Amino acid sequence: MNHAWLLERHTRWIRNKKDGPIRIAELGSGDGSLACRLLKQWGPVEEGSQVIFVDQAPCLEKDHAQQLTALGWQIENQVMDVFQWAEKAPPDIDLCFASLFIHHFSFQQIGQLFQKLSRHTKAFLCLEPRRDWKGLIGAKALCCLRCHPITLNDALISVRAGFRHKELSHIADGNFPPNWERVERPVGPFSHLFLTTCFQGVL
Ligand SMILES: C[S@@+](CC[C@H](N)C(=O)[O-])C[C@H]1O[C@@H](n2cnc3c(N)ncnc32)[C@H](O)[C@@H]1O
Repeated sequence: MNHAWLLERHTRWIRNKKDGPIRIAELGSGDGSLACRLLKQWGPVEEGSQVIFVDQAPCLEKDHAQQLTALGWQIENQVMDVFQWAEKAPPDIDLCFASLFIHHFSFQQIGQLFQKLSRHTKAFLCLEPRRDWKGLIGAKALCCLRCHPITLNDALISVRAGFRHKELSHIADGNFPPNWERVERPVGPFSHLFLTTCFQGVL
């Protein structure tokens, strides 16, 4: 789904804006490969920059962490439920992002998560499956690529749990501050982007 490239395109402004150390967090980070691909494109960072991986499973790959350390990042690996982490997260995160993660939750849970995150981060971005006919055709087409039936079924479930129109913006209303800028739109063939930030004039 090319999420590393899409992420880089939509977060470059943070990289360019910040002079000092940057603190970012990835929610539902899996093996860390996405952050690794994104941050390799950002290049070396200021000393003291930190990336926080949050996932309920202990699945961060050592190799990805090492590649990021070599670029100057301090790594924090938080193996815990995202709601628990969001209660006690540090207050000065520049960017919290997630890929293929937010669609695991109900609208009510997403609202709760947004509210908690708004106290800790200056920007939030997620890339999720788009719930539309193209996504469904794409998921069904996986059988032509001889994908395992479980993968095919997971893809269909993900598309059906995905987002469209301004669904995430409606959930953000009342949970992120009203003066935060926001963009929500389809990106790439199958993805849906939501980005909100307290920085003005950047989107
Ligand atoms: C579909 S994977 C996405 C991995 C990665 N973000 C990517 O795009 O490749 C979803 C990840 O979310 C994690 N996850 C699911 N529910 C969670 C929760 N409540 N708290 C923390 N992590 C969770 C899973 O362990 C899994 O690693």
